[in-house]
Amino acid sequence: MARITAGLATSHVPAIGMAIDLGKTQDAYWQPLFAGYEWTRSWADAAPPDVVILVYNDHASAFDLTMIPTFALGTAASFQPCDEGYGPRPVPVVQGHPELAAHLAQSLILDEFDLTLMNQLDVDHGLTVPLSLVYGQPEAWPTKVIPLAVNVVQYPPPTGNRCFNLGKAIRRAVASYPEDLSVQVWGTGGMSHQIQGARAGLINQEWDNRFLDAIVSDPAAVAAIPHIEYLREAGSEGVEMVMWLIMRGALSDDVEALHRFYHVPASNTAVGHLVLQPQP
Ligand code: DHB
Ligand code: FE
Repeated sequence: MARITAGLATSHVPAIGMAIDLGKTQDAYWQPLFAGYEWTRSWADAAPPDVVILVYNDHASAFDLTMIPTFALGTAASFQPCDEGYGPRPVPVVQGHPELAAHLAQSLILDEFDLTLMNQLDVDHGLTVPLSLVYGQPEAWPTKVIPLAVNVVQYPPPTGNRCFNLGKAIRRAVASYPEDLSVQVWGTGGMSHQIQGARAGLINQEWDNRFLDAIVSDPAAVAAIPHIEYLREAGSEGVEMVMWLIMRGALSDDVEALHRFYHVPASNTAVGHLVLQPQP
């Protein structure tokens, strides 16, 4: 039987990817940020899972305004890094797990979550920066990855509650997969940031830290946060955080926070990071 062994949340700022790719991680600006991921790097190297279900958002790289799926599941055997305007990041091709992805598609759609199925999908910094933060610069990624792209770019994104319930459905789907696989679910994006308009540069440390507390201990309360609160308190791009609720819904009610990190700023963004272990 497949089982979910951990949940992980992290911001996905593109400049973090640049810092890694250009060898700047020990520069004064970046060193404190990367120090916050050292614990995770050792934890991840010690026991990579068989598969990561990686919840992220595309930033008009693979999708554009001609086509906006709310939830899109990557069912392909592999996923190429996107050209985001500066060429694709020099990172390994992401290897998928088509068998588990097909099972997720069947289980989730019959569970009434009408996903878009992506038999071809290029992946941008939303997916590759979290992989780089956790696994560094390997020749090949140590785990297979099933991308789950969520629309948080074009209004209206899904509600936090819908994301939380999708996470619970992912938990049921993984538990009904017959092969003995260790699966992690990652929720990415956030924390507070706004990269457009009059409030560009907005950061709200107090709100972010309350979010970090509550996503661990009271996720149902976080699931009830309306879009307008994300926009007002965490900025227009802060709404990316609804994706963390898919990860949280996929875990047990009780979780232990193995690692927590918060840092301001990276580029225009407050960086938040959690590693969560489900409790029996
Ligand atoms: C930044 C953050 C993001 O989440 C993103 O997708 C693009 C840019 C930033 O802080 O620069
Ligand atoms: Fe983003």
